[in-house]
Amino acid sequence: MLLNGLRRLEYRGYDSAGVAVVDAEGAVAVRKRSGKLARLEELLELDPLAAAGTGIGHTRWATHGGPTDVNAHPHLGDGGKLALIHNGIIENFAELRAELEAAGIELLSETDTEVVAALLGHEIAKGREAGDADLETAFRAVVGRLHGTFTLLAMHQDQPGVVVSARHNSPLVVGLGDGENFLGSDVAAFVSSTRRAVAVDEDNIAIITPEGVRITDFSGAPVEFEEYEVAWDAEAADKGGWSSFMAKEITEQPDAVGNTIRGRVVDGAVEIPELTELGDDRLREIDRIIIIACGTASYAGMIGAYAIEQWARIPVEVQLSHEFRYRDPILTDGTLLISVSQSGETMDTLMAVKYAIERGVTTVSVCNTQSATIPRESDAAVYTHAGPEVAVASTKAFVAQITALYLIGLHLGRVRGTLAADAQASAVAALDALPAQVAEAVDTHEQIAQLAHWMADTRSVLFLGRHVGYPTALEGALKLKEIAYIHAEGFAAGELKHGPIALIDHGQPVFVLVPSPRTAPVMHSKVVSNIQEIRARGARVIAIVEKGDTSVLPYADDVIRIPLTDTLFEPLLQVIPLQWFALELSTAKGLDVDQPRNLAKSVTVE
Ligand code: F6R
Repeated sequence: MLLNGLRRLEYRGYDSAGVAVVDAEGAVAVRKRSGKLARLEELLELDPLAAAGTGIGHTRWATHGGPTDVNAHPHLGDGGKLALIHNGIIENFAELRAELEAAGIELLSETDTEVVAALLGHEIAKGREAGDADLETAFRAVVGRLHGTFTLLAMHQDQPGVVVSARHNSPLVVGLGDGENFLGSDVAAFVSSTRRAVAVDEDNIAIITPEGVRITDFSGAPVEFEEYEVAWDAEAADKGGWSSFMAKEITEQPDAVGNTIRGRVVDGAVEIPELTELGDDRLREIDRIIIIACGTASYAGMIGAYAIEQWARIPVEVQLSHEFRYRDPILTDGTLLISVSQSGETMDTLMAVKYAIERGVTTVSVCNTQSATIPRESDAAVYTHAGPEVAVASTKAFVAQITALYLIGLHLGRVRGTLAADAQASAVAALDALPAQVAEAVDTHEQIAQLAHWMADTRSVLFLGRHVGYPTALEGALKLKEIAYIHAEGFAAGELKHGPIALIDHGQPVFVLVPSPRTAPVMHSKVVSNIQEIRARGARVIAIVEKGDTSVLPYADDVIRIPLTDTLFEPLLQVIPLQWFALELSTAKGLDVDQPRNLAKSVTVE
């Protein structure tokens, strides 16, 4: 059960893994190993564990101390009687470590986590001397001394049916079973056993036994909690015959956009109930929107900004979450902050949202993960309903994020009276057609696979686009860096002659996202000129164009065709061949598509 849970969570970090159980003899037993989960499984085959019913497991993304066997979690304390795992960073670990060393306690690893395990052991030993060695009491005392971010789980062999846990700026959910209960950083850990879940609130402690769950705050005062039902089942988080989760998730994009739209278009107009709840007057008062996000989600934000400005006529700026609060941002009563996050747990984005909330700003979260921290902290949550995304490289969440931002733009435009009837009708028609068109774009796979086959030795790829094609180009480049480890850059096509064109040399592959000649004739002709400029300097041009556009044929080496849509909707189709390209190059290089080196799916440290 632990290994199954870890397998589903491995996307969060995969440089080492470990499990600890209370074994048949009633003692804590640990197996842990650096490397992917498969290495831990090998170890468990050679040296099995006889678990008696309580266990904890961890898959690590190293912060303090490299990915070695010793640094892997769980860490032990109280002479090996207790085991503890941790996500996050303990900022005062050096000070705590010095204190433990002064008390004669020896530490084996370089991790901040072992310091917590040792401190907990020390606290229990103190309790034992005083005649009350209770895990929960000791755990509470330790948690109160920690600075930084953490989700912690601990168990002790003297209280074999108990696991204590705490969260501070790092996710933790409880799974409610029948005669069994679970804890996980994500519901994926236990969804094959139960879909009944409880989101543990910030700065709370959850204590589980097979029979029950109790939640308290850090001081021990009981906290009421509500359960919810996880909207997807274990199958949704399985590979289901695909070679990789990423391949499966690329093909799920028609459903991802369909599910994001579903129920939000009523009688030809977009209505998002979560925004309606904020009050139309409040929405009319907005005079500026700041979108914050990281990585792929920030590119979705950049694309969304074009649409929101066009439909709602509100100035929108997009900022990287980790830059936002350090620039002393100007936030006024009329500011709306929209965060975009697949996981809803990205620490940089969470901190930016909290910063805005503290300053009284209205916050809306675009998120894919039910009951994650960011949507729960925000004034309104617009869920994308793309289903669980397991591959580290984001695909279906990206198209769903763009779709959700478009819906927000259309809702705001309607409420504020800035959306003309014909613009609304054409946007709603484009939304209607989107799932089928995305499915057509998914069908470019075969053509892209052949292209990637010929380009397997490519060392650098450039991506060019204008308007919404620019962030799409950035996303195409990010995908390639991330999973194929190939140098790639995205540029605004117009920027090329201001410097980057010097990179163009004989045979340099350049993907060009060509806007529609029907809906954006001027931009189209500018991009065709850009293609001629780079072709003249030796570039190998791969053009992504709408069906029927023959203007690029004389200058492009390869042409990939996507269905006809409005300019604003093109990224949702153009990005799909770029996703396939990254996947195919990664596969051609023999790399792990789903778990690229050095990365983790959910970045819960700043
Ligand atoms: C890239 C990717 C990342 C995430 C970023 C934000 O493929 O997945 O760039 O988009 O780490 O993550 P979320 O959306 O969970 O906040």
